[in-house]
Amino acid sequence: MQIHVTAGALGSLGSQALVVPMFADGRLDGAAKAADAELGGAIADVVSSGEIKGAANETALLHSTKSPKRVLVVGLGERDKFELPSLARYAGAAVRHLGKRNVHAFAFALPLEAQRDAEQAAAFLIEGALAGTIDATTYRTEPDKPIALEEITLLVAADDREFDKAKLEAGAERGRILGEAVNYARMLALTPANDMTPTHLAKAAEDVSRKYGLTYHVLDEAQMRDKKMGAILGVSSGSDQPAQMIVLEYAGDATSKEKLALVGKGITFDSGGISIKPAENMHEMKYDMSGAAGVIAAMSVIAQFKPKANVIGIVPSSENLPGPRAVKPGDILHAMNGKTIEVINTDAEGRLILADALCYARELGATKIVDAATLTGAMVIALGHAATGTISNNDEFRDHFIDVTKDTTEKYWPLPLYDEFSTTVKSEIADLRNSAGRAASSLTAAAFLKAFVGDVPWIHLDIAGTAYTDAETPYLAKGPTGYPVRAFVALAEDAARTNGATRNGASADAKPAHGAAAGANVR
Ligand code: BES
Ligand code: MN
Ligand code: ZN
Repeated sequence: MQIHVTAGALGSLGSQALVVPMFADGRLDGAAKAADAELGGAIADVVSSGEIKGAANETALLHSTKSPKRVLVVGLGERDKFELPSLARYAGAAVRHLGKRNVHAFAFALPLEAQRDAEQAAAFLIEGALAGTIDATTYRTEPDKPIALEEITLLVAADDREFDKAKLEAGAERGRILGEAVNYARMLALTPANDMTPTHLAKAAEDVSRKYGLTYHVLDEAQMRDKKMGAILGVSSGSDQPAQMIVLEYAGDATSKEKLALVGKGITFDSGGISIKPAENMHEMKYDMSGAAGVIAAMSVIAQFKPKANVIGIVPSSENLPGPRAVKPGDILHAMNGKTIEVINTDAEGRLILADALCYARELGATKIVDAATLTGAMVIALGHAATGTISNNDEFRDHFIDVTKDTTEKYWPLPLYDEFSTTVKSEIADLRNSAGRAASSLTAAAFLKAFVGDVPWIHLDIAGTAYTDAETPYLAKGPTGYPVRAFVALAEDAARTNGATRNGASADAKPAHGAAAGANVR
């Protein structure tokens, strides 16, 4: 895919389809206004006809015999509510609408609002365009033709001196790397469990490590036994597929002892085990490794963005099946930190594999830990598919994280971790029980995990609602969404800024303007 930045005249667009933004107020400005003038008012005509009202992701297509032969008007919603991440949906909606109609080259007119941060704007636009290309029909003997993006132009008005070409280009490159990684995570998640075992997942991580120059190691079951990781081994005992503890490491700052650990739940299929799930929708449990896919994909981006920070990705991976050696309700497992766990419900397996992974993160020197897991069905009840529940043993770290993710296309929402939830997960016979009933079950799950992080600042992201959707939108196919790749990358880049600020004696939460900081991080 080629990416250009062009100011002005439509003459250079060749066979590219022109995409122009329209706010609900119907006022054309910037590149859209210039294009409209060149096209003799054809865009203004459609806008004033009422055929399109400018609601978010609405589209109207114009044809012409001259170049550009196609102009797609895409709604951006209310102008005063505009935020830069909307540009990802703007681009995605155009790519999905025209891409399925054999268009492979797009020129996107940027709204003047994108001047707020040209680099971020370009990154969101390319990220969204790439996300729009994916469809989930790869296993059909005649799959839908993938949407090919051959050429993208970012178009600004000729007289617009505010836009910085270098920034747009740098942002576009960041968006390309991020968008490709997001799609990679989505493809991993989409792959059915017979082709995506823990061994396959480890192979994917190893491939990524080779391609982008990360350190890779994996613990097999014998090595896990040596480390007394009885919790993940308990989950894995019901399956013929061996569990894997997968580790990718990026060392970007030799001068610092700080190490951010990203931990992702890698259950490649969750049948529930002996506490078996109902058949309805059980097939969706191939997505139960979305957190793991997010870690692997985020590490691939971090290896390319090269922030001045140390980041380790840890993926505990297993199947959860009711085989003859499966863990049974009432069984007691011994986690790596020596804590004993009464298994009340074998379907609460995510917290078991994460327990050992969180202990291992600490053994590997993590000074901050963020885990992402499709952990509880209750999360979907609480926040639907709109936002990820964000739970922490450190409110400051959590609030800072949520702040950092505001510069991404993902949404995170805080939920409380009261001490009473830690009481609820105590067992009569052992230290902990893995299930404490229906009340606040997303939060008791978090309280369970908290018992394995010691005093390391830690955030738990329950992505059960956000990792995949069953509804198609104009800008994204149904299925996996790529959560939490963008948040993980943003946090790693923020770590580079925050660590640096601390070392220079400045305030740890000093956050420079995004564009400048992001540029400085790309070495
Ligand atoms: N992977 C599931 C959670 C899940 C459910 C994710 C639906 C996405 C959609 C998890 O392993 C699970 O089964 N959780 C149980 C825990 C309960 C047994 C304490 C749940 O939430 O019902
Ligand atoms: Mn389960
Ligand atoms: Zn699960």
